[in-house]
Amino acid sequence: MLSLDLTNVYSFVSGEELEGMEKEINKSVKTVFNGSGAGSDFLGWLDLPVAMGDKTKREIAVIANELKKEVKYLVVIGIGGSYLGARAVSDALSSNFPVSDNEKEFPEIIFAGQQIGEDYLFELLGFLKEKAYAICVISKSGTTTEPALAFRLLKDHLVQSVGQEMARKRIIAITDGHKGALRQLAEKEGYRSFVIPDDVGGRFSVLSPVGLVPLAIAGVDIEALLDGAKEMRAKTGKDVPFKENPAALYAAIRNALYRKDKFIEIMVNYDPKLHYLSEWWKQLYGESEGKDSKGIFPAGVDFTSDLHSMGQYIQEGRRELFETVISVKKAKNTVLVPSEKEDLDKLNYLSGRRIDEVNKMAELGTLLAHVEGGVPNIKVEIDSLDEHHLGQLIYFFEMACAISGYTLGVNPFNQPGVEAYKRNMFALLGKPGYEKETEEIKRKVKHR
Ligand code: PA5
Repeated sequence: MLSLDLTNVYSFVSGEELEGMEKEINKSVKTVFNGSGAGSDFLGWLDLPVAMGDKTKREIAVIANELKKEVKYLVVIGIGGSYLGARAVSDALSSNFPVSDNEKEFPEIIFAGQQIGEDYLFELLGFLKEKAYAICVISKSGTTTEPALAFRLLKDHLVQSVGQEMARKRIIAITDGHKGALRQLAEKEGYRSFVIPDDVGGRFSVLSPVGLVPLAIAGVDIEALLDGAKEMRAKTGKDVPFKENPAALYAAIRNALYRKDKFIEIMVNYDPKLHYLSEWWKQLYGESEGKDSKGIFPAGVDFTSDLHSMGQYIQEGRRELFETVISVKKAKNTVLVPSEKEDLDKLNYLSGRRIDEVNKMAELGTLLAHVEGGVPNIKVEIDSLDEHHLGQLIYFFEMACAISGYTLGVNPFNQPGVEAYKRNMFALLGKPGYEKETEEIKRKVKHR
């Protein structure tokens, strides 16, 4: 089971200070569960671990079985909340290295529409030539520029390579139940589709069809993922006392640190498979808390790699940081350090020991150094990197985010600031309906 260790924060926030937050945090917990706070029409994520009906599960299984036989790749198109959750889980569970087509048991996920790099799309279309692939296009609004552009290109590519009929069977759409361009298109073209619930926002949607459909197709055990989340849902329920609720404690400690001018939280991992979990977490906390001129800035580092780049700053730079370390108790595989006769690299003292032991000592040594250097450390520990524990992690961070956002005094479920760049981009590109903005922005650009 996931555990939260605050031992290395107590020299910065005392036990009494943390206890002093109990009333305030309990109020935020109530606000979440009563649905009495700002953004309360987006609380559907609370029940996602138990919300998916058998019919939908069967539909997902049918598609997953069919595509397993027919394709080697699944191109998942989406951005932000319609991308990062599936990426976090699939990266955490798959090999670091490509598996050859003959050895693939399930379709391998390739992501697209998560940026607008022309070369990326050019290279992707080239790579997919003569490959057997399907597309899973995910967009709640159905109008987001990045995925819409990628889908337009990939849809044409697929039709050209397998024909209209087959392409129709190989395109799965995940979008709003009633409205939006993608819903219209799915209905017109007869794509199989799944619904993103109205009350679930993008960054809280990984346990909805947004994450579950592509992950199931890629061979992830989505029942185990949901079970893990369900377990965490029970551990963070509204009647769980403050001191026993890990999400409440994490929300409390973050806010306590923020009030002591610790404005930057760095998510730390010691396994490259967790890189995208940090990316998912960055969106979750950045979009939920960064508003009204408030919020902890969420950053991420991959250790030990980044100890050789960011390590200096974390140890001795401005003291506005704290770290949250995701610690995995056991690596899945065993690799032992070999012995060498000459021992020129002086590594024989490690021979016969596991690489994971070296990694764990790097983790402990770094923690001690950073705490001594003035960086509080929160540890979130899981037993192993599997579906069950990832489900726990996801629900834990979502629940803590909602509690933390209300404690900070913001609406954790909106993202008004994301529109500003879109307005400018549409004006610069001359999108119909943006004529006034186009004129204004052209004037601005001219005067630069
Ligand atoms: O959290 C959010 O709301 C955003 O990150 C969206 O998920 C992202 O912009 C994608 O939107 P959509 O699913 O409508 O294409």
